[in-house]
Amino acid sequence: MIDNSKVKVMAAFGTRPEAIKMAPVVKALQNNKHVDCRVVLTAQHREMLDQVIQLFNIVPDYDLNIMKQGQTLAGVTSEIMTRLDAIITQEKPDIMLVQGDTTTTFVSALAAFYHKIPIGHIEAGLRTGNKYSPWPEEANRKLTGVLTDLHFAPTEVAKNNLLREGVHPAHIFVTGNTVIDALLQTVKQSYVFKNRELANIIEKNKDKRLILMTTHRRENLGEPMRQIYRALDTILSRFPDTYVIFPMHKNPLVRNVVTEVLGHNNRVHLIEPLDYEPFVNLMAKAYLILTDSGGIQEEAPSLGIPVLVVRDTTERPEAVDSGTVLLVGTDYVQVVENLTKLLLDQKTYEQMAKAVNPYGDGCSSQRIVDIIINKFKQE
Ligand code: UD1
Ligand code: UDP
Repeated sequence: MIDNSKVKVMAAFGTRPEAIKMAPVVKALQNNKHVDCRVVLTAQHREMLDQVIQLFNIVPDYDLNIMKQGQTLAGVTSEIMTRLDAIITQEKPDIMLVQGDTTTTFVSALAAFYHKIPIGHIEAGLRTGNKYSPWPEEANRKLTGVLTDLHFAPTEVAKNNLLREGVHPAHIFVTGNTVIDALLQTVKQSYVFKNRELANIIEKNKDKRLILMTTHRRENLGEPMRQIYRALDTILSRFPDTYVIFPMHKNPLVRNVVTEVLGHNNRVHLIEPLDYEPFVNLMAKAYLILTDSGGIQEEAPSLGIPVLVVRDTTERPEAVDSGTVLLVGTDYVQVVENLTKLLLDQKTYEQMAKAVNPYGDGCSSQRIVDIIINKFKQE
């Protein structure tokens, strides 16, 4: 970077979790006088992305608007590649910033690489070691890692994963996870739910324990999800003091199965995806969370809410080690047994319901921006 010139940083993202974790970074970039920031939305998601953009007041420079109902991995890949290539040609950024492990993440990195533009990867180094779990995310993050110049690892565990793969230590920076920056800016002690439907559900069930559920992973579509939902049906019949809120992912393949298995149960509230602000404030009120989400595994330890993860693997061992998160798989019997234990055994519950913070202190975004500026100052 020549002294007076600015570093041109392009931030590309397209799904709900990328937007949540990229939003505080974009804000920090925009507030930095040494940076010229360009925001590109691939819009791999639409409604679920837009609510985050609006909450954090982000105005995109480009919106590829690629989402289609029932889109395929190949379709998303080729759409992003062609459209983003044209924007990179025009803007010629100094560095491309990507986040996480979605198709948007990998393809945006690849598009930048084809222009020999350096890449910064936020949330680098997460691994399960199984390329089909989660699918396709494990491959997406490894492929992105191969192309990356600045690896922003959220934890030491993630850093060690990268070192084992031969990444040079000078290229890895442990920054914490920006998800905590977003969380701390959004959770409020005395939050008032403005969403009428949600406020009514909470009021009507104020004497019951809330089980908050989300599921969406591609490898869980079909039979695994059916088993999870059946397990929940059984639990509700055994524990009359519980109720479920499921803000359904927009994917019709999720909605069809959950509606079929749990739609008849009047203690299950199948609602539209919640905006990020009410969602994290609802998490803080839950008795427990049942989920296959990655981001929720990172947020829940900070809030001290026990999480049962309905997956076979996790790339977030810190949350498991901290005691807040337990990996239970998707088998009906296992899900029923683990839910039963948590609902019956107060000691188990209290051991899990401790607020700990393995993922950051809320300052990760600023660290990332400082590292980027330093890199260009040195050149
Ligand atoms: C994607 C990511 C996954 C991430 C998840 C977060 C890939 C391969 N998958 O999965 O890593 O954990 O986002 O939620 O990148 N839809 C809408 N409106 C929306 C969003 C989705 O209607 O705002 C529907 C569409 O029919 C779309 C479908 O959901 O075709 C699936 O979306 P897609 O982004 O392909 O996959 P996700 O399962 O959301
Ligand atoms: N989330 C949200 N509304 C919801 C469900 C989840 O805003 O109805 C947030 C949640 O707080 C977390 C993120 O979405 O920050 C996780 O996204 P998702 O589970 O879709 O993806 P993953 O993290 O598994 O990639």
